[in-house]
Parts: sequence; C-alpha cells; structure tokens
Amino acid sequence: MHQLEIIGSEAVAAALDGRETAVLECVRDTYLLHERGRTVNPDSHFLRFPEKPDSRIIALPAFVNDDRPTAGIKWISSFPANVARGKQRASAILVLNDYETGHPVAVLESAAISAARTAASAALAARVLAKQAPETVGVIGAGYIARTVCAYLAASGTPLDRVVCHDQDPASAAALAAHLNGRSPGTATTGALQDALDADLVVFATTALAPYVPVAHRFRPDQLALHLSLRDLAPETLLASHNIVDDVEHCLKAQTSPHLAEGLVGHRDFVNGTLAQVVLGDVALDANRPTVFSPFGLGVLDIAVGRLVLDEARSTGRSVSAEGFFGDPVRW
Ligand SMILES: NC(=O)c1ccc[n+]([C@@H]2O[C@H](COP(=O)([O-])OP(=O)(O)OC[C@H]3O[C@@H](n4cnc5c(N)ncnc54)[C@H](O)[C@@H]3O)[C@@H](O)[C@H]2O)c1
Repeated sequence: MHQLEIIGSEAVAAALDGRETAVLECVRDTYLLHERGRTVNPDSHFLRFPEKPDSRIIALPAFVNDDRPTAGIKWISSFPANVARGKQRASAILVLNDYETGHPVAVLESAAISAARTAASAALAARVLAKQAPETVGVIGAGYIARTVCAYLAASGTPLDRVVCHDQDPASAAALAAHLNGRSPGTATTGALQDALDADLVVFATTALAPYVPVAHRFRPDQLALHLSLRDLAPETLLASHNIVDDVEHCLKAQTSPHLAEGLVGHRDFVNGTLAQVVLGDVALDANRPTVFSPFGLGVLDIAVGRLVLDEARSTGRSVSAEGFFGDPVRW
C-alpha cells in the first residue's frame, strides 16, 4: 500500500544543517534546468483577504523534469501581524507527488525549505553577480530570510566582516546584529537605511508592499543589490541599474518593482537577463551600472530542495510514515 511520508521541522532542519553547499548546487542546477525549458512553473496563485490586505497565502505548483521527474506544490502563508506577537510571519507545507502515478508521496514542513532555497539563490547571485568581494554588507529587513541569507552568504564564501543591519523595527535590527555577532564577534552593527544602502552588497528582505527607498536613490556601479523582497526599490532606481531576474515572466507581475518599472516605461528592455544566463555566460555584467537581482522565487526550487530534504530524511531514518492515510488504491 502506498504510504504518505511526513517530514517535520526537526527532520527538515537535520537535512539542511551544514548542507548549504549542496542546497546551493541544487538551486543552481534547477535554475539551469529551468532555463533549458525542462521545468513547468505556472503562475503562483495569491489568496488575499479583503479585511487583511497585508496577508496572503500563495500556492506554487511546479514540476522538475530531470532524471527523477518530481511534481509538487508549496502552500505558503504570510501573515505579517504574527511578527508583533513574536511569531514567524511565514509558514508553509510542501507536497511532493510521484510523476509515475501522481500520488502524493510526502508532506514536508516548508518554511525552512523555502528560506533555504531563497538564501541559496541569494548566495548564488552574490557569487555570480558581485564585481568584487564585498567589504561591507547592508541588510535591510532583519527577519528569518535575512538571517538565513547571512548564513548562506557566509557558507558560500561571501565575507561578512562588516554588516550593517537596518529594520524599521529597531529591535529586529538589533536581534540580527546580535545573532551575527554571536557567530563572529564585532562584525555587525545596526544602522540607518542610508548606511545599509551604501554597503557594497545590499540585501533587501523586508515585507514592504510598495517602494520606500527614495526615488532619487542610485546605487554605485560597483554595488550589487539582492532585491529579495521585490517591492523596496522605486522603478527609477531599477531603470538606472543592470537588472537580473530569475524568470522574466514571473518577476514582472504582482506589483513588484520590476513590474512597476514596466508600467512606467511600457516595455521590458530594462531587464537584462536571468541569473542562469549569467551563469551560462550568455549575459555579461555591465561595468558602468550597478546590478540589481530581483528573484520572484520559483516553485521549482522548492520542489528540488524539498526532494533533497526527503532523500536525506529517508536515508537517516527521519521520515515518518502516515500509516493508513491513503485508502486501498485498487479501483474495484
Ligand atoms: N524572492 C523570494 O524568493 C523570496 C522568498 C521568500 C521570502 N521572500 C520575501 O522576503 C521577505 C522577508 O521575509 P521574512 O520571513 O524574513 O519576513 P519577516 O517578517 O521575518 O521580516 C521582515 C522584516 O522587514 C521589516 N520591514 C518591513 N518593512 C520595512 C521597511 N520599509 N524598512 C525596513 N524594514 C522593514 C520588518 O520590520 C521585519 O523585521 C518577505 O517580503 C518575503 O516575501 C522572498
């Protein structure tokens, strides 16, 4: 009888701990697979609530068509009001389906998987898109994603010797700085928005719904901005930058800053390419303009990293079978 496997948060953490390099390689391979058209990644579906305009639950179905074809869906909710109650904003599950039968094979706790794949994509972008090793890193928005991104940057060789943490909530900025100083004393401080914006590498991981960085802001040509939260920068700032995305169709939707820029100029010519195209050498960086990486966050990354976690949980005996969850599969 087909059994559903449950991979809870402890098993997911055990599978991801110390595996940053493997996750980063998995994300890189999946971006390249996506670039070659060997994935199916439909639009994300946003469930929104009239009386909670800042909250949403997003469905990301996807299919990775590699040597072990795997389909699935991530169902991730974002309720920013949780943060004021000291709780995580996001929570998620991932369902992986067998491509032979379509059967759901496993359900995985997925906030950690989602953060890991996001951080791995940021670390990959830092490695591929930075014109030189950054001496300073500015982190704007000091939450779970920012913390995970810092861990992946450090693990993948981006120096974190001088980090400026900025958040509209000073306690969050202080908590991230303390977290980083706990790992490497004296490296992190809190600072104003402008201090973080001046860093060589700028990471945006806020929950801003609309641009708040001043319209007149321009990055220096040597700077790289990892615009993970997608709605921080004014279209004018993007139009003065070299823009790299994960997927053009996906990224120019849902009122992201690139979407607003398209609305302003009426075309997409300001998007210079995808991260995979830079990895493949098909798109070169522009020495005269700063680079802004805006990744929409592709469901295929969740499927690929989720499969890696499932493999690890199985091999270490941490996968739990939900006996009898599915009934008799025989038709008659
Ligand atoms: N692109 C992707 O692939 C991807 C994937 C996952 C998450 N994300 C995004 O990353 C962001 C951060 O997620 P998280 O789980 O760390 O959230 P979180 O709620 O834990 O932290 C976000 C922080 O941003 C701060 N903030 C909000 N608006 C701000 C502003 N205008 N200026 C400064 N600080 C501000 C909040 O005070 C909070 O501390 C979210 O927007 C999420 O959608 C992107």
